[in-house]
Amino acid sequence: MNGFNPLVFSGVQPTGNLHLGNYLGAIRKFVALQDSYDCIYCVVDLHALTIAPDPVELMRATREVTAAFIAAGIDPKKNIVFNQSRVKQHAELAWVFNCVARMGWLSRMTQFKEKAGKDRENASAGLFVYPSLMAADILVYRATHVPVGDDQKQHLELTRDIAQKFNNDHSTRIADLGAGVEMMMGDEKVNGFFPLTEPLIEGPAPRVMSLRDGQKKMSKSDPSDLSRINLTDDADSISKKIRKAKTDPAPLPSELDGLKERPEAENLVGIYAALADTTKEKVIADFGGQQFSVFKPALADLAVEKLAPIAAEMRRISADPGYIDGVLREGGERAEIQAEATMKTVREIIGLLGD
Ligand code: TRP
Repeated sequence: MNGFNPLVFSGVQPTGNLHLGNYLGAIRKFVALQDSYDCIYCVVDLHALTIAPDPVELMRATREVTAAFIAAGIDPKKNIVFNQSRVKQHAELAWVFNCVARMGWLSRMTQFKEKAGKDRENASAGLFVYPSLMAADILVYRATHVPVGDDQKQHLELTRDIAQKFNNDHSTRIADLGAGVEMMMGDEKVNGFFPLTEPLIEGPAPRVMSLRDGQKKMSKSDPSDLSRINLTDDADSISKKIRKAKTDPAPLPSELDGLKERPEAENLVGIYAALADTTKEKVIADFGGQQFSVFKPALADLAVEKLAPIAAEMRRISADPGYIDGVLREGGERAEIQAEATMKTVREIIGLLGD
């Protein structure tokens, strides 16, 4: 892209248990991308601090996300897998970006508005500047592509706004130092230091909804464990949860259109399609007119076939926290070399004295 080497970066927060939505929406895509890109996958523990997690739970969740990455098929030798806080340059660049991003930009972030709720005065400053840290995660490697769900697209736009303002504000020094890469900004050819990172939406990105309420996203914070399939669930729990999933009494429609206004049915069809790597059309072609008493067991079998091996592998990996910590340490060392190379130049560009 624009003279920058293609590089994929993405992050997952270590908060709560991973579930099917995290797998289909993020982790599975990370696995697919490693064949065509250099990839850096980060467990963003600094981001998790914005919700003030229990420290022991934060450590557990950091290891669990790492185990899930590896169990799902991410090769930590080929790619870089590490936890964010190990590489101090993320926090350093985030500070620089806090001074680039405008209050107005950050105030418009819908995720902040949602998470802060009505009591904005009482939201942490960390929650407010969360997107600057996310921009730093990506740009400290000058990553060109980020696989993310729809809910993160706005943060990625902000990342581009930050990159663009930095490139503009410092264009003379970037040119003087020969630090830039030729790139297009709008119609103009410029020398920029940071790429304008693009989202990478590959394949169908199903919105995985709660198994108890087809209008709500599947979520780790739903009090009912029956509402989600955790990545650590064994075969019996997976089957049970699908059998108990809320549905309506009608059989599956014979046309895709018939799923409208039937959120629970649509969700289960979407999950089937995603797990089988096919389209909802194809699922409806196969199961249209059938009762849920036929469709649910088929979905349960498919989910067990695809997910139970990952759960088993997660359990195996999690039994050896020393191995997981070793992966994170080694990944952190490799990441730091790249991050420090970027920061050295950033410090020069903006006038911070260093070595
Ligand atoms: N904000 C992302 C989320 O909640 C997590 C994240 C942090 C991230 N830094 C990132 C995602 C960098 C992609 C790239 O899902």
